[in-house]
Amino acid sequence: MTVDATTLDVSGICAGYGSVPVLHDVSIKVEPGSVVTLIGANGAGKSTLLKVVGGLIQSTGGSVAFNGTDCTRRRPDQMVRAGLGIVPEGRRLFGEMTLRENLELGAYARTDRQNIAHDFERVLGLFPELRDRLSTQAKSFSGGQQQMVAIARALMGAPKLLLLDEPTIGLAPVVVDRVAALIREISELGVDILLIEQNAEVALSIADFGYVLENGRVVMADKAEALLANPQVRLAYLGV
Ligand SMILES: Nc1ncnc2c1ncn2[C@@H]1O[C@H](COP(=O)(O)OP(=O)(O)O)[C@@H](O)[C@H]1O
Ligand SMILES: [Mg+2]
Repeated sequence: MTVDATTLDVSGICAGYGSVPVLHDVSIKVEPGSVVTLIGANGAGKSTLLKVVGGLIQSTGGSVAFNGTDCTRRRPDQMVRAGLGIVPEGRRLFGEMTLRENLELGAYARTDRQNIAHDFERVLGLFPELRDRLSTQAKSFSGGQQQMVAIARALMGAPKLLLLDEPTIGLAPVVVDRVAALIREISELGVDILLIEQNAEVALSIADFGYVLENGRVVMADKAEALLANPQVRLAYLGV
């Protein structure tokens, strides 16, 4: 029997900006087939960790392994080619470009060009609300639809692991529920998920496992349902 390698194994990461340290000895894992969330307040260092994993900033210590291969200090394009999909904070769509063009850009790093048309249909199948709007400029979509486009674009890269940075921020509750359901659906298609969120309630209700980041340190790690029931988490992150 072969045991699948841990999808993402972040071990002892230290990182910051210039001489200002932000992350201190951060270790998190995403196992195959799981949705893992990293929750924490604004400024805790969540996006900084995403930037380290994505190769956008360099760590000063620790390691990142992806699918069992050491990927510490790889470049962003190398991480994308290795199977990392990123949905950045604030979506960062190409507003003047159409939905179709945004999705096509998501596939830029792929070498299996023959599968792209098939995946285009498969990805659109997840987003019935977008299907009839392929020629619409991305900037014309609502906030929720733009979030869907950002997720769809990342899926066009055929990622093994999807990193989402606060995908529910600023969305109406009904749209938050839609995004949450979508994340579960994507997970069931075999894409592993690392979900970064300030909305702990939503994140913990869809994740299998969760980490709590405070001031650049992991202070709790447990099954998502255990964190949801944890009095400290409830007080600090759920306001109850
Ligand atoms: N580009 C940057 N240059 C300098 N400091 C930064 C930069 N980005 C973030 N920081 C600082 O790093 C800390 C963590 O930020 P961030 O990782 O964005 O937190 P979170 O995503 O959890 O809100 C904050 O104190 C923030 O001010
Ligand atoms: Mg952030």
